[in-house]
Amino acid sequence: MKTITGHIILLLFAVTTRAAQPAIPAVQPVNLQCEQLSDPQGIDALHPRLSWQLSGDGQNIRQTAWQLLVASSPELLAKDKGDLWTTPRTPGDQCRMIVYAGRPLKSGMSCYWKVRLWTTSDAATPAAQRHSAGAWSFPARWSMGLLKAADWHARWIGYDRGFAWDSVSKFSRLSARYFRKEFATATPIKKATLYIAGLGHYLVSLNGHPIGDQVLAESPTDYTQSVKYNTFDVTDACLQGANAIGVTLGNGRFFTMRPKYKPQKIKEFGFPKLLLQLDLEDDKGHHRLVVSDSSWRFTADGPIRTNNEYDGEEYDATRAFPGWSSPGFDDSKWLLPEYTLSPGGRLSAQLDEPMKIMDRITPRTITQLTPQTYILDMGQNMAGWLQLKVKGSRGQTITLRYAETLQPNGDLYTANLRDARATDTYTLDGQGVEVWHPVFIFHGFRYVSVTGYPGTPELNDFEGQVVYDDLATIGRIETSDTLLNHILRNAWWGINANYKGMPIDCPQRNERMPWLGDRATGSLGESYLFDNENLYAKWLDDIEEAQKPDGALPDVAPAYWNYYSDNITWPGTYILIAQMLYQQFGDQQPIRRHYASMKKWLHYMSDKYERDGLMTKDKYGDWCVPPESPGLIHSRDSSRITGGELIATAYYYHLLGIMSGFATLLHEPDGFTAKAAVVRVAFNRKFLHAGGYSNNTVTADLLPLCFGMVPEKERAVVTKHLLEKVAQSGHISTGVIGTQWLMHGLTEFDRPDLAWQLATTKAYPGWGYMVEQGATTIWELWNGNTADPAMNSQNHVMLLGDLLTWCFRDLAGIAPAAPGFKTIRMQPVFPPGLDSLTASYETPYGWVKSHWQREQNTISWDVTVPPNTRALVFLPSGEKTSVGSGNYHFTLQTNKTI
Ligand code: BGC
Repeated sequence: MKTITGHIILLLFAVTTRAAQPAIPAVQPVNLQCEQLSDPQGIDALHPRLSWQLSGDGQNIRQTAWQLLVASSPELLAKDKGDLWTTPRTPGDQCRMIVYAGRPLKSGMSCYWKVRLWTTSDAATPAAQRHSAGAWSFPARWSMGLLKAADWHARWIGYDRGFAWDSVSKFSRLSARYFRKEFATATPIKKATLYIAGLGHYLVSLNGHPIGDQVLAESPTDYTQSVKYNTFDVTDACLQGANAIGVTLGNGRFFTMRPKYKPQKIKEFGFPKLLLQLDLEDDKGHHRLVVSDSSWRFTADGPIRTNNEYDGEEYDATRAFPGWSSPGFDDSKWLLPEYTLSPGGRLSAQLDEPMKIMDRITPRTITQLTPQTYILDMGQNMAGWLQLKVKGSRGQTITLRYAETLQPNGDLYTANLRDARATDTYTLDGQGVEVWHPVFIFHGFRYVSVTGYPGTPELNDFEGQVVYDDLATIGRIETSDTLLNHILRNAWWGINANYKGMPIDCPQRNERMPWLGDRATGSLGESYLFDNENLYAKWLDDIEEAQKPDGALPDVAPAYWNYYSDNITWPGTYILIAQMLYQQFGDQQPIRRHYASMKKWLHYMSDKYERDGLMTKDKYGDWCVPPESPGLIHSRDSSRITGGELIATAYYYHLLGIMSGFATLLHEPDGFTAKAAVVRVAFNRKFLHAGGYSNNTVTADLLPLCFGMVPEKERAVVTKHLLEKVAQSGHISTGVIGTQWLMHGLTEFDRPDLAWQLATTKAYPGWGYMVEQGATTIWELWNGNTADPAMNSQNHVMLLGDLLTWCFRDLAGIAPAAPGFKTIRMQPVFPPGLDSLTASYETPYGWVKSHWQREQNTISWDVTVPPNTRALVFLPSGEKTSVGSGNYHFTLQTNKTI
């Protein structure tokens, strides 16, 4: 029985349960992955993890056994010879993260693999189930990178100073550097593999052909700690005879956007540098290396005159050198590079997905602002850049300025970019139609002002290229409520815009920093939209690399900004994300890998700041609560502000609980539970009073309720006060912290109607208010349209809180009951006001679907459970049923119209 509002009691019960599709499918292993990637190149996991899904939508499909073959050549694999690893037929339903345990893997090795399965389904006879294996899967592959430092024969090359036209000052201007090398091959090349680390960003071509479709590569790190390299199979691009490699280096985060400015705060790494190794194998198996060394040539006097992630890119096509990355180009006037110091970090393979141009959009409108200037509206706030197509005279310059919003006079509003100049220029070569986009920067924008375009620009002269990490969209929800649909769309756009090889806070102003607190529980909601497992696993490494020897963790990691403010809520994200990766993807590795560092940080915090069970240190409070007046950034009204010590202690307690779970999982001694008990007592002693906690902000009451800190006998009264408070205001009153627990919390406390109201109100403050004001992403502040421009980004994701998690787990009813959704908990709520919902989500095992529709007193609910999983289906009547894969239909009757 669920109380939806104070006076309506719903009685829902299942009247029918039937299998919708009894068809007999052929079950196949599909979507083979190694380290959660399809056919990755150059990995450095010595025991990579192999996964697959089972095809088919039949009833009760379950894997009963599996067998894997891994071979050193496709030919051997085709003959069913797994010379690297042949597993026996292994009973069991494990199809995720099978740890490779074959012959030792060596640098540069290519591995080809396939799997076959024994499965059971309603269709198979018991005898067939026991004996017959399915067909082998289609083959998949991976290759190994360079596993030891000694495998690298290349040396770092660069040039550690600027040129006359560069400026190494606050608004740095550093032109791109072009490196080239020719080489000849006498014998046919059987296999060519290119390994590259180009800092900050690189573009690489072989014989005039760009290698790969990644952009802004490689993934950013703290280069003094680790440097990622990428690997490409370039066999097809190599020619017998003369060849040439061309590499362009951009600045990225390596040559920072604001050098020689606040050196205590902003980390500098130096001038761009390159490490490249090309391994050529001929048909006799002989290897020859072409490596970055002092025999290369370079110039910085090329077309990219400057590239600065905040300020933009300038390209002068009159200075381009056609054919420079092909053999035969005259580089006699180019310079010799110098050997430079290594950046310091350990080289490791990039296992998070690279950034790519993920989408292309044509502007919606073009408006003439002045005789020379046009304003383009992309119709969507996005991150990436604008590509232009133009015909004009040599030497003419087009200026593109980017912004998220417009001023009332129709010109760009740039105050909220702070000092980011967000301007690209293109100087025409004058030969025919020219197509150009920047390559080493990105902007966060919806509007572009175009000045100096020759002739009259038209919409299809421009294309918005949306750049983010190559992560599949794995979750969708469409509901009968158009406002909620719009909010979800805004969330999707905001999240993708802020994936840049690390999760950043915003893509537009002079910040773009990987702030930990912004992703605390948000990362969980994001995982319902994007397959963000490897990205977040990489980010945990970034966080660990930023840990100080004493255990302190930063607020920003990689620590491009030196913020070690010692607080619980921002660095606590380290632990929350490890938990998320385990829950959502079933991945234990991050917990194993980071457990010691997490523990070290908690000890550091408790030694330094815990007093009598209370965590006394906080920094950000409930960041960005709706303030009392529209122009404010932070509230000054004490009745809106939740105490820092309360927040810190509650989070501390919560994190101790998670760590205790990790300890159990890893069979480690659990020192956390006892500590948590002490913290809980101290917390209640200090903050609990007759009517709830401290000054009874929603956050103050919500955190202890959600974290299980409230003494049993007080729970009802604290809950009552909290719900009354939310109901009275009818809108959101929480900031980044409270909002992380709000929607699911209200639903848990039997008030999904209140959660629904907050989610869909159009009034200030709320996500719906943003939509009403024309937002196409999520704002940094609830009052993001009126607050001081110093902090009113239109594209932050931290205020999403647990909204997405609530939509998927509570509205659609799709939650993991066992790590990685091996068992799925399906338990939707049906708040009044929502008439239908269609959700799909690709779990590691395949797609789960939930579609429900309300008609009068009846809710019909269709469910799809992926193969090799089970779902625990909870019906509102209290009934619970466990089902295997397949499609199911439930009809739920209510005793009144809802
Ligand atoms: C960032 C936030 C961040 C905060 C913490 C802001 O400037 O944009 O997202 O979490 O600072 O101080």
